[in-house]
Amino acid sequence: MIPDKAPREDVLYAAGDLKKEAHVPSFEKYKELYIKSIDNPDEFWGDIAKDFYWKTKHTGQFLDYNFDVTKGEIFVKCMEGATTNICYNVLDRNVHEKKLGDKVAFYWEGNEPGDESTVTYRELLQQVCRLANVLKSQGVKKGDRVSIYMPMVVELVVAMLACVRIGAVHSIVFAGFSAESLCERILDSQCCLLITADGFYRGDKLINLKVIADEALHKCRDKGYLVQRCIMLRHLSKVEEAEVAPLGSQSPPAKRPCPDLQQDPQRDRVKKTRPVPQVPWNPEVDLCWHSLVCVASEECEPEWCDSEDPLFILYTSGSTGKPKGVLHTVSGYMLYVATTFKLVFDYQPSDVYWCTADIGWITGHSYITYGPLANGATSVLFEGLPTYPDVSRMWEIVDKYSVTKFYTAPTAIRLLMKYGSEPVTRCKRTSLKVLGTVGEPINPEAWQWYYTVVGEKRCPVVDTFWQTETGGHVLTPLPAATPMKPGSATFPFFGVVPAILNESGEELEGPSEGYLVFKQPWPGVMRTVYGNHQRFETTYFKKFPGYYVTGDGCRRDKDGYYWITGRIDDMLNVSGHLLSTAEVESALVEHEAVAEAAVVGRPHPVKGESLYCFVSLRDGVTYNRSLEAQLRKQVREKIGAIATPDYIQNAPGLPKTRSGKIMRRVLRKIANNERDLGDVSTLADPSVIEQLFENRSCSDV
Ligand code: WTA
Repeated sequence: MIPDKAPREDVLYAAGDLKKEAHVPSFEKYKELYIKSIDNPDEFWGDIAKDFYWKTKHTGQFLDYNFDVTKGEIFVKCMEGATTNICYNVLDRNVHEKKLGDKVAFYWEGNEPGDESTVTYRELLQQVCRLANVLKSQGVKKGDRVSIYMPMVVELVVAMLACVRIGAVHSIVFAGFSAESLCERILDSQCCLLITADGFYRGDKLINLKVIADEALHKCRDKGYLVQRCIMLRHLSKVEEAEVAPLGSQSPPAKRPCPDLQQDPQRDRVKKTRPVPQVPWNPEVDLCWHSLVCVASEECEPEWCDSEDPLFILYTSGSTGKPKGVLHTVSGYMLYVATTFKLVFDYQPSDVYWCTADIGWITGHSYITYGPLANGATSVLFEGLPTYPDVSRMWEIVDKYSVTKFYTAPTAIRLLMKYGSEPVTRCKRTSLKVLGTVGEPINPEAWQWYYTVVGEKRCPVVDTFWQTETGGHVLTPLPAATPMKPGSATFPFFGVVPAILNESGEELEGPSEGYLVFKQPWPGVMRTVYGNHQRFETTYFKKFPGYYVTGDGCRRDKDGYYWITGRIDDMLNVSGHLLSTAEVESALVEHEAVAEAAVVGRPHPVKGESLYCFVSLRDGVTYNRSLEAQLRKQVREKIGAIATPDYIQNAPGLPKTRSGKIMRRVLRKIANNERDLGDVSTLADPSVIEQLFENRSCSDV
């Protein structure tokens, strides 16, 4: 399946000096290790596990599983019998065993240039233990779910690790989601506590996060669910004194001097004086992060968890419209993200690594928090935007911290490409060694720009294909070993066995195109959809029994390279974020003027895909600009700004089959102004087509 020798033609090779120190220095070595990982997973992963701390060791085989729905329930179990704690492994082990206490864990770089702070492994451990004790004192126990809704600050990592230290399950909701989306996720996971912050700036825009969080908690209450406590971090508003409100008291929070705040290393990180967020305060529920943490102990014994205990839930779009709570468990996820991080970025102890993703997405979970910390790495944690205050910001940060390994999304590359090479070449970037991308297929032009302009052809580009569900990279080059082809995610990572199937579920050999599936589990694969195992089986295992179905299309070329062709279900990828068309449609039809809606993707030069929405109005309602603005607002409020429609078109009639199914294929063509509609013989009323072309809402094609 993987060629014995790497091809020599049409490929690009990594620079020689990277190979000297690389963990996997050649294609031959990659192939040898790959075969070992498949033939002898117990030994392959067993060797890796030796570097981690286990309270009790596992017994029996490394992986036990059933991937075939026709043979019974789907399950994956990794290292059964072992007990451990990830927080202990990423912090205590590094501080005490590896003597990395004084090493910088994160350079925090704020939205505003000049806003910065540094946290070492020892300081991170102290902060985590304190918050873990706070959570315990608030009654959070092993297995309880905690929602986290925070900006990109070090305390977000502290909150995650405090949860896992006590065996609680975190459910992080990206801070760009709306109150409605937060409420939906809190209800689905039945979280007992919410951790949030006062607010943050995205460029010039102030986001009143606490206001949105309160709205979500009200919505939960209206639906009969009470979140017991909300811990709020003051990120923007200065705290000289912490607010202490006795629980249950109706009085506004009293001020009392906070003894440890003077020593808080994060205290002066936000320098520029700007309007601070509004902070609504409900004394029955709200608690101030600082006032609790500053009196909490720095000692906190970790809760020893079983390998298959839940670690976290992270919601991802589902094709029915209702987000799926992807559940990952302790040991397999830990080993998998640690190993992919080490090998895919060829991590070396002197590296300064920077992943620009938000921790609210899986990329941030796996490759800002868990993977880098498990390796004792130093990372940049960036709060801001690639274009603020100007389009050189990323490269200025690269120079400021001498970043060696840099990981971003194709949409960011395409955005910056628009401004030409000068904003890049203005900065030195000589520290860079490896560049990575994730989130969507990268078009060869963007790949070439990244490789040539940003990396000056010195740095290999690792195009990492993976999903929230896969936990970590599954198809990816290894920087010193895999010859690159621009736009291809190349070959499987260790332990991963891909296949390409045709519509009838037959495995295709050699060069081919079809459904990308995986034939067996790897340690980091998701274990279930939280609270709905049946949905897990139906979504990923039912279509082709015996395989995990990714939902992506894929092509394999003559050299065995894999090329992702994009989603083949009703999912769109807008700026690297998966959105389900059904979710956007249901937000639209909730508006009283809308009878029916159909949403399709339209290629977009920066975002990859944009949202093109067709709406049929109820009788008697007329379409106008004000209604269009209301519909945009409606979607933003229901889902969040990432789902804002790019185009809305009035569609008095939608193309449907005689059985009433909307023909999205036809709508996609209309959105793109492509007249060649293919076979439309099943269309119930062909006259709607011309009307739809006439009413197109964008004139740019
Ligand atoms: C897409 C993000 C092509 C794909 C880690 C996948 C990619 C979905 C790549 C998962 C890549 C991610 N090349 N497509 N390198 N990486 N995708 O769950 O469609 O947010 O199924 O996880 O993003 O998105 P998710």
